[in-house]
Parts: sequence; structure tokens; C-alpha cells
Amino acid sequence: MERESFGNRFGVLVAMAGSAIGLGNLWRFPYLVGSYGGAAFIFVYIFCVFLLCLPIFMSEVIVGRRSRSNAFGAFKKLAPGTKWKWLGAVSVVTPIIVVSYYSVVGGWSVEYFLKACTFEFTAGATQSEMGMMFTKFISSVWSPIVGHTIFLLLTAAIIISGVKSGIEKFGKIMMPLLFVLIVIIAVRAATLPGAGEGLKYLFKPDFSKIDTSVCAAALGQAFFSLSLGVGTILTYGSYVNKKENIALSSTYTATADFFFALLASCAIMPAVFAFGLNPQEGPGLVFETLPFIFSNMPMGWLVAILFFLALIVAALTSSISLYEVGVAYLVEEKQYSRRGASILVFIIAWVCGVLCSLSFGPLSDFHIFGQTIFNLFDKVSANFLMPVGGLLLVIFVGWVMKKKDVMDEFTNGGTLRGNRRISGFVYFLIRYVCPVAVLAVFASALIF
Ligand code: TRP
Repeated sequence: MERESFGNRFGVLVAMAGSAIGLGNLWRFPYLVGSYGGAAFIFVYIFCVFLLCLPIFMSEVIVGRRSRSNAFGAFKKLAPGTKWKWLGAVSVVTPIIVVSYYSVVGGWSVEYFLKACTFEFTAGATQSEMGMMFTKFISSVWSPIVGHTIFLLLTAAIIISGVKSGIEKFGKIMMPLLFVLIVIIAVRAATLPGAGEGLKYLFKPDFSKIDTSVCAAALGQAFFSLSLGVGTILTYGSYVNKKENIALSSTYTATADFFFALLASCAIMPAVFAFGLNPQEGPGLVFETLPFIFSNMPMGWLVAILFFLALIVAALTSSISLYEVGVAYLVEEKQYSRRGASILVFIIAWVCGVLCSLSFGPLSDFHIFGQTIFNLFDKVSANFLMPVGGLLLVIFVGWVMKKKDVMDEFTNGGTLRGNRRISGFVYFLIRYVCPVAVLAVFASALIF
């Protein structure tokens, strides 16, 4: 059977940017910025994205396109008969864990979108009312599970349609829409009286705030936001055609992802400051603080609808990239049909997601290693599996694959002159800088 691939460069870009831009940008990045000192965090983040994570991103695309295989098959093909296939196995399992809890948060977005449409963020509500509404919602049994189910079904529907007519087509429509939505919201927020303080917080760094915990958080976020270390970019890379310029499309993706995160912060922080709220709200920022702001600003009901719609769209284009990893594996290695594979992944992710969802309510006292199920999934994947997966992947590309093969992919057989010129530098980053830096940050996070 002929393997599908993305149609053209725009298709590659929207798919990859779609994977990268998601809840990580709209939900995780703004609250981390708030918790880790504003502009100083962003400053460190820029280094993490462009110096460390971009070469890792290119490495994943290289492994994918070179092998033209799913995450498991790739290592089997490029390093036959070695233990590297275990990295492949982990790269197939992790995204399924991630998609299960990701889709729980996706489900919250669905619920909050419905709440916004039915004007539940009543004018004049206080912040504690909104906080209570959120706590009550996530700790209930049924509504979050309904949201999770809807969200996962939407994901499965796109996946079943295939790479080109599902993933690529959806991205081409949704990514531009997402951009427009976020710009509208950012403009609305920046024109609130008192918004200037928020912008200052985002753009005027206080370098004394930088310490190891800021570096570790920034690197972890860069990994998460660029979808690294768990085989998603590798799988998408395997659908990139041989003529595509890997360095260029990776750089575009990382840049777009970065600006989206910044734009999302510009949509959120000025509003937080305009209302005199605390930016260090943590994970509740989007679901507690924002609804309060929406319910108290002119035209807030409309902004609320647009915002939660944007959140769903962004989350969907990311969850399909996670979902696709398992499907590609089952189709290519286990001879499933695309539909059959999608159903199996759905069942696993749905059950794990239900457990995650219940861990805010009836299962909140059930702890594994002192963590609720949701937190365990989140922490183990973001703080452990992703950095370790990324680390092993650059080691694979820098030290196990033949340099000639890597260069061949990087320069399309020597035909891309610009890439030839920077290839030495990029290879140096992949071989030495990325592994050492990731290891250092990882170790420091374990020690401190
Ligand atoms: N990058 C996405 C976001 O920012 C989430 C995501 C998609 C992801 N694929 C991933 C995160 C793989 C980690 C690993 O929301």
C-alpha cells in the first residue's frame, strides 16, 4: 500500500504548527510566565526553543523522513537488531498517555465553550465564584467525562479521514482561524485600561529572577510546546516529502509556535493586570481567572466564546498529532486498518482519560507515588519521558546514525546550498550542545 504524505509545504507547516501550537501555548505557557517571573522566563525560553529544541525538532524530522516509518518502525529500520527499538516502543506508548490527559483538558475547553455560549459567565461574578465553578465542575463525575468523550471523538474523526484529507485539510482551515481569533482577543485585551502593566511584565526582564528552576521549567515547556521527545514530530516527519527543506520548515514551525505563545500571553496578561489580579495563578489561570475577566469586561461574552473556541481548535490540531503516532504504529507494524487502529487507540485513551478525569473527584484520594492519576500522567510525561526521549533521540542522530545520512537528509542530498553552509553548526549542536544541555537541566531539576 502506498504511504500517504503531506501535499505541499503549506500542508507540512500547518500540520506541524498545528501539533506544536496547542494547550501548551494558550494554557501552559501563560501560567508558567506568570509563575516564573514574566519577561525573564520568556528570555530563557527563547534560548531553549531556538538553540536546544530546534535542533532536536530537526533531528526528529530527519529520523522520520529517512525511515519513512512510524516511531517504532523507524528505529528498527535505521538501527536493525539493536536496543534502540525500545526507544521506539516508548515513543509509541507515551503519546497515548499524553493524549488521554490532554483530551481531559480539551474536554474542559469544550464545556467552557458551551458555558460561554449559554452565557454562564454572568456579568459581575467575583473571582472566587469562578474558582468555585471550576472546582465544582472538574470534581463532578459526568460533565468532564462527557467533554472528554466529545473531544476524543472529534480527534478520532479527523484521524480516520487520513493524513491528507484529515490532518492536513483540518489544519489548513483551522490554523488561520486560530490566528485570527487570538489576534482579536489580544487587541481587545491590550486596549483595556491599565493593560500597560501587563505588557511591561511580559517584555521588561528582571534578570535576577533567573535560576535553575526557571531554566528547567523553560526547557520543559519548550519540549512540550514543540511536541518533542515522544514520536509525534517523528511520525509527521515520515509524511514529509523528499523535496521539502527540513531546516526551513522546522524553523518556521518553531518561530510560529513561539509567537503564538507570546501572542497568547499578550491576550491574557494585560487583562490580568488591568483587573489587578495575581499573575501567579498557576494552572487555573485560563479556567478561573479568565472567565472572571470575561464576565467583567465590555463585550466579554463574545470574547469568551471566541477564546474557548480557539482553545478547542488549538487543542484538536495537537491531539491529532498525538493520536496519529499510535495509529501509524498499529497500521504499519500490526496490519490494522486505519479505522480499526483509530478505534483501539480511542478505547485506550478514553479509559485512561476517564481515570484522569475522575482523579479530580471520586478518585482524588487515590495516589500513586503521592500523585493523583492526572498529575502522575502529566509529571511523568512532561518531566521525564519527554526530556529523556528527546535526549536519546539526539544521541541517536548525533552518534548512532551515520553523519553522511544525517547530512543527506539535512541538505536533500547536497542540493540545498544554504543548508550545506549551516550544516556543520547544526550538527555540532545536535552532537554536543543539545545532549549536554538537556542532561544538565534534567540533572539539576532532579537535584534541586
Ligand atoms: N505541543 C502541543 C501543545 O503545545 C501538545 C503536544 C502535541 C505534545 N504533541 C505532543 C506535547 C507531544 C508533548 C509531546 O499543546
